Amino acid sequence: RTRPFQVAIDGPSASGKSTTARLVAKRLGFDYIDTGAFYRCVTLSALQKGVDPSDSKNISRIAALASDAKIDLKTEFHASASTLPTTRVFLDSKDVSSDIRTSNVSKHVSVVAAIPAVRQSVVQKVRALGAEDIDSSAKESKQTATTSAPSSSRAGLVMDGRDIGTSVLTHADLKVFLVADSHVRAVRRLEELRKNGSQDALLDVKQVQEDLERRDESDRTRAVSPLRKADDAIELDTSNLTIEEQVDVIVKEALRRQGKI
Ligand code: CDP
Ligand code: CDP
Repeated sequence: RTRPFQVAIDGPSASGKSTTARLVAKRLGFDYIDTGAFYRCVTLSALQKGVDPSDSKNISRIAALASDAKIDLKTEFHASASTLPTTRVFLDSKDVSSDIRTSNVSKHVSVVAAIPAVRQSVVQKVRALGAEDIDSSAKESKQTATTSAPSSSRAGLVMDGRDIGTSVLTHADLKVFLVADSHVRAVRRLEELRKNGSQDALLDVKQVQEDLERRDESDRTRAVSPLRKADDAIELDTSNLTIEEQVDVIVKEALRRQGKI
């Protein structure tokens, strides 16, 4: 094997991807890469510069911002077994971890993520972190071969997003597609916003559910790498599962595929 063991986790908003992916990474001693954070950083960068993402005249400016953005993720796994790992996100060396989670960024991110040149830049950046084997990525992008250096010495990585199994890590060793009822997802997201003391906690469930459904629709119907379950992904409905249960299923399957159990 010339690359780390790859776990790809995709699914609609608030289906549990990032929580599950962090805990799976912690249990397996793997890296964690949040690809949504990259699209959020590009969106934040545009909004900060007064470039309106909903105006189609700005597409090439936003594409340029995506290509120039220097994005770094630092995940802390914490010693205590029950503590959720936390990821800090840096845009051009500035900590933007909370700035990228505001409702204004959430509102515009799907439009930004639908711009093909933006996706190309982000995919190139995250593949470099994931050390996708050179052959498969070189076929799709001429520039990947020079950037496929592993970012760390961990034995594997867990990457979450919308198109990881279908287009970013097409040869991932384990692909998971998480789904959950949209009302359940809205309740979970709102609870999370309240816990984080976010201003958006004042929204009601209906507003949050509408935002999720609007984003899902946009993510599913866009022309370039839409949200879709990969043919070889395991689908897991988390509506009636606990976090521990969904993490267990994935960890066991990863260990099995590594020949460890
Ligand atoms: O946390 P939440 O599920 O709400 O969103 P996220 O994972 O942070 O992703 C934000 C947005 O980025 C999504 O709504 C997608 O439009 C886009 N995205 C994408 O297109 N492809 C990915 N691999 C990850 C995110
Ligand atoms: O990354 P994504 O947007 O798919 O979802 P998330 O931010 O990981 O999950 C949204 C919320 O659902 C988090 O606060 C989780 O703690 C919660 N949750 C879950 O992920 N799975 C369950 N079975 C129950 C709650």
